[in-house]
Amino acid sequence: MPVHGIKNVCVVGAGNMGHQIALCFAIAGYQVKCTDINPEVLKKAEEFADRYLPERVAKGKMSEEVARQARANLSFTLDLKEAAADADVVVEAIIEKLDAKRELFARLDEICPPHTILATNSSFIVSSKIATATRRPEKVCNMHFFNPALVMKLVEVVKGPHTAQETAQIILDLARDIGKVPVLLQKEIYGFLVNRILSAITHEALYLYDMGIASHEDIDRAVELALGHPMGPFRLMDLTGIDLSYYIAMERYRETGDPAHKPSPVIVEKFVKKEWGRKTGKGFYDYSDAK
Ligand code: CAA
Repeated sequence: MPVHGIKNVCVVGAGNMGHQIALCFAIAGYQVKCTDINPEVLKKAEEFADRYLPERVAKGKMSEEVARQARANLSFTLDLKEAAADADVVVEAIIEKLDAKRELFARLDEICPPHTILATNSSFIVSSKIATATRRPEKVCNMHFFNPALVMKLVEVVKGPHTAQETAQIILDLARDIGKVPVLLQKEIYGFLVNRILSAITHEALYLYDMGIASHEDIDRAVELALGHPMGPFRLMDLTGIDLSYYIAMERYRETGDPAHKPSPVIVEKFVKKEWGRKTGKGFYDYSDAK
C-alpha cells in the first residue's frame, strides 16, 4: 500500500542494482519507470523482469496476479525526462563516480516536480556531496540497497546534515512498504554500516590472497564453513562487482591519503582486464555458462 501519497518511482541506472530495485517497487505496487543511458543494459533489465516474474510464479513464490500487476507497473525508457517527470521519488543507481552523480542530480532537479525526493543508492558516496548540485538538498538522502536487491532485506537510510527529517522518514516508511527492513544512520559516514564492516573482511581476505597464503577458493571456503557466511569474500566481490571494489578502494584512498586503502594488486589487475565478476562473465570465478 503506497505510503505518503507516493505513487510514481523512477529508478535511474538499470545495472547490477537498479534493475532489481525497480522490480522491488513494482512488486510492491508502485508505478516504476526504469531508465539507463545504455540501451543494452536497459534491454537486459527488461529481459530479467520478463524472466524473473514468471519464474517466481512457477516456483509458487508469487501469485499470477501479483506478477502480472508488477510487470504492468514497470516500464523502461532511455529518456530520463520521460522517466523522472512525474516521479514522487527517484532512486539513483548509476556508476559510482561523483561527477556523474552530481550531473545527474542537477538534471533531475530541473526535470522533477518540487516535491520529488532524490535518493542515491551509492554504496559509499554520502549524499551531502551530491545534494549541493540541486536546489533541494533537504529532499536528498542515501537509500542503500544490498545485492541481490530482490533478496536482501536491509536498506540503509542515511540522513545528511542537509536532509530534512521528513525526507528520511518518508524513505524509511517507503523501504518498509516494499518489504525491506531499514536502518537509519543519523550522521553521514563513509561506507555507512555494512560496507565498513564488509571492507574490513574483504581487505584481510585480499591481503591473505596477495601474500599467497591461500587460494581464493580456500579463503571463501574458510569464511563460509567457519563463519557461516552465505558467500566468502571473493564470491561476494564477483556478485557485487570488482569494478565497484576498485572504485570504493580508490575513493577511500583519495579521501584518506592512506596507502593501506589503495586497491589490492589483484583488484587492479582484474579491474583493468574487465574481469568484473558475474556481470562480465569472469571475476575470481568463471560465469561464462551463467544466463
Ligand atoms: N537475483 C534475485 N534473486 C536471487 C539471486 C539474484 N541474483 N540469487 C539468488 N536469488 C534468490 C533465489 O531465487 C532464491 O529465492 P527463493 O528462495 O525465494 O526461491 C534465493 O535467492 C536463494 O537462492 P539460491 O538457493 O539459488 O542460492 P543461495 O541460497 O546460495 O542464495 C544469495 C544466494 C541470496 C545471493 C546468498 O548467497 C547470499 O545471501 N549471499 C550474500 C549476499 C550478500 O552478502 N549481499 C550483500 C552484498 S554487499 C552489498 O550489496 C553492498 C554494496 O554496496 C556493494
